[in-house]
Amino acid sequence: MTLAAVDAIKQAQVVAFPAVRDGAESMAASIAEPWIRPEQRRLPLVFPMVEAAEPRRQAWHQAAAALAAELECGHSVVLLCEGDASLFATSSYVVLALQQQYPRCPLRVIPGITAISAAAAAGAWPLALQQDQLLVMPCPDHHEDLIAALADAARQERVLALLKLGRRWSWVRPLLEQQGLLKHTLFAERVGWADQRVCRADLLPAGQRPYFSLLLIRQSWPKVMP
Ligand SMILES: C[S@@+](CC[C@H](N)C(=O)[O-])C[C@H]1O[C@@H](n2cnc3c(N)ncnc32)[C@H](O)[C@@H]1O
Repeated sequence: MTLAAVDAIKQAQVVAFPAVRDGAESMAASIAEPWIRPEQRRLPLVFPMVEAAEPRRQAWHQAAAALAAELECGHSVVLLCEGDASLFATSSYVVLALQQQYPRCPLRVIPGITAISAAAAAGAWPLALQQDQLLVMPCPDHHEDLIAALADAARQERVLALLKLGRRWSWVRPLLEQQGLLKHTLFAERVGWADQRVCRADLLPAGQRPYFSLLLIRQSWPKVMP
């Protein structure tokens, strides 16, 4: 949590947070828990984890309406999110829906610490140096797409940050092993939590991992190094 985020939570009357269904635990709310006071009202906003477009659109617009209604009543409100609010974040859709439907609604986005930065720090793993490129992307679903991304990355001296690894680790590990890349890959799971796991990927057997897991893959180093 950044000082700015803690400050914003302190000043809010209402603390909104995403949940996948009514009553479900919210990762963002549990991270912020130590800073939420009992007198602050909690406002869970349900965002179903589905592929279909319509339920997702509906949820974003309902969330925007709920937040705008709080402001209309003169309540200050924060919407929590995990990591940075602009990187693969539900909060981005809510911001867009607010700008579209409630253009006069005052809003401020507070930058957060991305899981990639947190993982790199936890592993003391330089994310990008000198002329390196850094590509942040969801882990592909298919072998051939990952092979192509790795080949491009090798050509371009590009570090890959693969999010949403989870169950894909079962087939990604053997593929990285085949490509000789396991030792050049950092695995990070539940960074920042008591049960965080951050290690070189060759030390982790294949199998399903939690949704909150990622890989950082570096295939080359710059010429000028300590
Ligand atoms: C929807 S994206 C959210 C990214 C987030 N907004 C950020 O700035 O990092 C979710 C993915 O981010 C990664 N992630 C988020 N939190 C994480 C954590 N604490 N440890 C490891 N990976 C995490 C995982 O790859 C997860 O599947």
